[in-house]
Amino acid sequence: MTKQEEIQKLKEEKDAVILAHYYVRPEIQEIADYIGDSYFLSKKAVDLPHRTIVFCGVSFMGESAKLLNPLKTVLMPDAEADCPMAHMVLRETIEKAREQYEDLAVVCYINSTAEIKSWSDVSVTSANAVQIVKNLPNQNILFIPDRNLAHFVAEQVPEKQFVFNEGYCPIHENMRAEELRELKQQHPSAKILVHPECSQEVLALADYIGSTSGIIEYAKASRDKAFIIGTESGVRYALQQAREDAEFFFPRTEPICTDMKRITLDKVIDALRHGTYEVNMNNGQADDAAKRTLTRMLELAT
Ligand code: 13P
Ligand code: SF4
Repeated sequence: MTKQEEIQKLKEEKDAVILAHYYVRPEIQEIADYIGDSYFLSKKAVDLPHRTIVFCGVSFMGESAKLLNPLKTVLMPDAEADCPMAHMVLRETIEKAREQYEDLAVVCYINSTAEIKSWSDVSVTSANAVQIVKNLPNQNILFIPDRNLAHFVAEQVPEKQFVFNEGYCPIHENMRAEELRELKQQHPSAKILVHPECSQEVLALADYIGSTSGIIEYAKASRDKAFIIGTESGVRYALQQAREDAEFFFPRTEPICTDMKRITLDKVIDALRHGTYEVNMNNGQADDAAKRTLTRMLELAT
């Protein structure tokens, strides 16, 4: 039996469904039941009838799925797959801002730990941040942890005042504007599509800025035949499937999230067979508060 057949058999036996982010390895995207960006996956996790969710992504994704589905078993094939940015804010930063601004909304990117979510008012993803911040009644916004996404949102919502935090995604932050410029020189007709976690210098070069799904949708709908992509290279799999006729160019220094790449077929098989590694949320009121920020996002984004 192949690994893929084994996964199929185990999934049926365990009443399990596999969710995967676009940044995981192609062979994992191939066996997933649903592939998507963080927003799609968090919505999907709530709709599914299965008893068990195997989440092929990093820990904040598994935590969010468990918070939204406390009665389901949520498994992470690799217990160490974590997002470094998800930890990049101090509680003092939030407390200080709350003291300073009476009507402050603490808006937390979904790429954050459950603890950070519990200190916040609403979660957002890169796909819905602009819409949610626009619709909040608050005038002052503390956007955590990602400063790059925060600056992008602040530009789209100039009527609000932003307090920034110094968090960042190391993979998107390291993307070099000159490498994208070089690609543009080599392929002048290519459109530049980038993720808002990139630096402002990279965003300034873009024809389109959006979430991973946004980038894929843009390429799908476009008549162009060449694209320069400014996000983690795992999206190549979905882009090539969406546009077999098009070419996709990534920066010379390939953007790779090593945490996302920790998920392998063998680990998915272990997860299904042995129930490893189960996400358990045992922080009572803090978990309730974290769940509220996620539910508020789902309500405000629809
Ligand atoms: P999206 O999938 O929401 O675009 O986010 C990218 C990301 O960094 C996920 O970790
Ligand atoms: Fe975190 Fe960046 Fe990896 Fe996404 S790509 S999981 S933001 S480190």
